[in-house]
Amino acid sequence: MTNSKDLPTGAKGPLAPGETELSLTNRQGHPITDNQNLRTVGNRGPATLENYHFIEKISHFDRERVPERVVHGRGAGAHGYFEAYGKVGNEPIAKYTRAKLFQEAGKQTPVFVRFSTVIHGGHSPETLRDPRGFATKFYTEDGNWDLVGNNLKIFFIRDAMKFPDMVHAFKPDPVTNIQDMERFLDFIANTPESTHMITFLFSPWGIPANYRQMQGSGVNTYKWVNAEGKAVLVKYHWEPLQGIRNLTQQEAEEICGKNFNHATQDLYEAIERGDYPAWELNVQIMSDDDHPELDFDPLDDTKLWPEDQFPFLPVGKMVLNKNPENYFAEVEQAAFGTGVLVDGLDFSDDKMLQGRTFSYSDTQRYRVGSNYLQLPINAPKKHTATNQRDGQMAFYVDIAPGQNPHINYEPSSLGGLQETKRDGAPYEPSYNDKLVRAKIDRTNDFKQAGETFRKFSEAEREELVRNLGDNLAICSQVIRDKLLDHLTQADPEYGRRVAEAIKTAEAAKKSAHLGTPAAREGMEAAEELGQR
Ligand code: HEM
Repeated sequence: MTNSKDLPTGAKGPLAPGETELSLTNRQGHPITDNQNLRTVGNRGPATLENYHFIEKISHFDRERVPERVVHGRGAGAHGYFEAYGKVGNEPIAKYTRAKLFQEAGKQTPVFVRFSTVIHGGHSPETLRDPRGFATKFYTEDGNWDLVGNNLKIFFIRDAMKFPDMVHAFKPDPVTNIQDMERFLDFIANTPESTHMITFLFSPWGIPANYRQMQGSGVNTYKWVNAEGKAVLVKYHWEPLQGIRNLTQQEAEEICGKNFNHATQDLYEAIERGDYPAWELNVQIMSDDDHPELDFDPLDDTKLWPEDQFPFLPVGKMVLNKNPENYFAEVEQAAFGTGVLVDGLDFSDDKMLQGRTFSYSDTQRYRVGSNYLQLPINAPKKHTATNQRDGQMAFYVDIAPGQNPHINYEPSSLGGLQETKRDGAPYEPSYNDKLVRAKIDRTNDFKQAGETFRKFSEAEREELVRNLGDNLAICSQVIRDKLLDHLTQADPEYGRRVAEAIKTAEAAKKSAHLGTPAAREGMEAAEELGQR
């Protein structure tokens, strides 16, 4: 059991006469003398409406849930620390970034990590085929840095405009409330850039064995900025020191039949027994330009940066050594966002990253509330003084010691907050182009998917082919044809083997549990109307 003495609690103060430390009160501090019986006329009722304790108790209970995350609803979290190596590979890290947390070897920064599955809700099985979230909040001396990543190194789409459609296709059918692989693969078949991602997702890499034995990646491209204001492009990768383990579909189904919370339990129990999971943080670095010599765009998150050209360079290590004391307060209310960077770290022009950066804090103002950054799990562990005031659930004022409490604006000569002077040259990229709505030039949607298919072991390829075959077997011909065309463009053997696997699955009638006839009926009706 964890010890809850460090958990932030409500008002502390002297005990009233007759109270002990364990005396039950309501949130007004009133002692509760009867927590079992409503106040009623006679012991058979009716009840009266001035039952203050009962109404407080039941109406708070009615509000115990906040909206679930629109994606990544199911998660598990843990606290720990990040320890810097003080260099990047063999070079001094200051050459590339002035971010303080990385500079000195051995410097520790507290972290909180939330792992998650993506598509299904808060209590869904942790054995489903789905990317896994890997979000880290670093409480640095310069304020918080959030690295919001996934286990896989790439993504389905490269433009944020497509994200809501993608999530709608992957989430349960709006009529039946059942996830339908035909809707899922319909979106994929019409989104050629997702071919690389599904090559990972339908292989064993799509079901990590647990959270401790999986990788993490920032996926999108960021920048590092040094003291002279010079930038490089950077990608982040977490490598588990426990090793990597993935599951086949059959292994996952067996685990799910016995325990659908296995990943949360595995993480919690490992930390309780002192077997602290650790990851090494690696970066890949590229000069800050569009690299015309590459056959892909470095800002395209459907692509891997080839490791032989852009090696993984270790910069530090993270250890998770403390379980949350309260799941809701820490894990559910945790709010991570790609916009949360510190000095020396910057955004790239990656269009996904830019879309994400709006979305996270927007959803958190709705999901957790406008003062979500005052909650202990989200607040930085350093001086914070703002002129932001009020809003729902403001429970303290972000005022500085010595600040004139009347002055909640800036500039002022009357003792208000002032701007801070920072060291280091500003990073000021310049732009001169037309505003357009257009795809990037080097889309190259299939080449890396083929390379990944060939790099897999034969066992991984077999599992990938079988899983795609089983799921495509319930899809209409138009979806099969489009997707098989993409797989064939990636590698002719890939397309041929999946086509055979569809036939095998059809023969075995394996597909019965995967489709929702309702979606297919809707599609047939649309086909008749010539809409497809
Ligand atoms: C969670 C949006 C792409 C990783 C979320 C949430 C939203 C969102 C709204 C819920 C946040 C909350 O309620 O606190 C988007 C959009 C994307 C996108 C609009 C694309 C344009 C990605 C990508 C990754 C990713 C590419 C992987 C690098 C995560 C993770 C979480 C998350 C790990 C869960 C964070 C947590 O544990 O609280 N995303 N996302 N997302 N997203 Fe994304």
